[in-house]
Amino acid sequence: MPHSNFDMETKQILVTGGTGYIGSHTVVELQNAGYEVIIVDNLSNSSVEVLGGIERITGIRPAFEQFDLIEKDKMDAFFSSYRNIEAIIHFAASKAVGESVEKPLLYYRNNLVSMINLLECQIKYGISNIVFSSSCTVYGQPDVLPVTENTPRKDAESPYGNTKRVNEDILKDTIAANPQIKGIALRYFNPVGAHPSAEIGELPLGIPANLVPFVTQTAAGLRTELMVFGNDYNTVDGSAVRDYINVVDLAKAHVIAVNRLVENKNKSGYEIFNLGTGTGISVLEIIQAFENSTGVKLNYKIVDRRAGDIEKIWADTTYANEELGWKAEKGLEETLLSAWNWEKKIRGIR
Ligand code: NAD
Ligand code: WQD
Repeated sequence: MPHSNFDMETKQILVTGGTGYIGSHTVVELQNAGYEVIIVDNLSNSSVEVLGGIERITGIRPAFEQFDLIEKDKMDAFFSSYRNIEAIIHFAASKAVGESVEKPLLYYRNNLVSMINLLECQIKYGISNIVFSSSCTVYGQPDVLPVTENTPRKDAESPYGNTKRVNEDILKDTIAANPQIKGIALRYFNPVGAHPSAEIGELPLGIPANLVPFVTQTAAGLRTELMVFGNDYNTVDGSAVRDYINVVDLAKAHVIAVNRLVENKNKSGYEIFNLGTGTGISVLEIIQAFENSTGVKLNYKIVDRRAGDIEKIWADTTYANEELGWKAEKGLEETLLSAWNWEKKIRGIR
């Protein structure tokens, strides 16, 4: 493991999962804000080529260490060689809901052991600040909409969802017992889109489980048609409703969260923020907005509901807006166009 040759004055941020979808966009925003970034990723769901995309956008190639966070000895060696880390943003996790139902132990091991190892090292190496990627999945189908941070969590619908809930609790309890550590859990709603440069974006392996990659792959001709899962929900047009948040807007919230911790502006040791737009959008509205913004007609058909899906959810973003001074800025059509430009770029479509 190489020793850091960073300027000791510059604040270093460890980004676990930094070659992944949300991580890579966050690395760009951190570097734009003047932070030095070190990425740790095992490349289980991303490619080292993402580093080139980050470099082309920012002019800076972030430091990169490839290892698995469940390997404690490697993590320990990492922290003994990088001694100037101010904050950790912990993105690394397995995230496929369906796969987590098939392989629960893989999900519990990867997501929980990584978190525990990281917090143990944080304490040992005296790193004060951590931002954790949580998810609106912890709310299940809420009884009241929109959801605030105080909306009660519900039993998780999947082992994946349960790892988010348990990791939130692990973080909260660890901070309660170790007040020198401060943490922020960010509950993302549905992150979509890509960097406007089309240098980085989402790279799903195999058949996409998520809506927007399936939309763009259908438009690109990789899939024959999009299946709309259900049109008999109690929503505006019968299709299910979510809060789709642009990934660059989401990335910017991480910079604000890191600043808040580094500058000691947090109100308590453990804080939670919803990150969404505050607007619910149906699947059929996504299709319409995609067609409007790209001019591409989408093949789709209505099929049965997908098992485990909730009907509708969107965020109350008041707390993030007021307390973080953060607001989602990008519109839905701009966001879907960025997803399409990224898909075209990786498929060589002009
Ligand atoms: P992603 O799969 O693109 O990125 C995760 C990265 O972590 C990948 O690069 C993967 O290789 C790496 N990784 C996984 N396990 C690792 C391990 N044990 N050691 C080292 N690296 C490891 O996923 P993403 O969409 O960027 O999600 C980032 C985080 O946000 C995850 O924690 C995810 O659960 C959470 N989240 C995502 C969404 C979403 O819809 N994308 C929504 C809510 C929350
Ligand atoms: C969105 C909507 C589908 C695909 C998942 C996780 C959640 C969070 C975000 C991490 C739903 C519909 C989808 C398709 C469709 N991840 N759909 N046809 O299910 O809201 O959330 O990702 O924490 O935990 O569960 O996102 O993109 O899969 O679906 O009609 O081919 O699109 O039914 O209503 P979801 P999604």
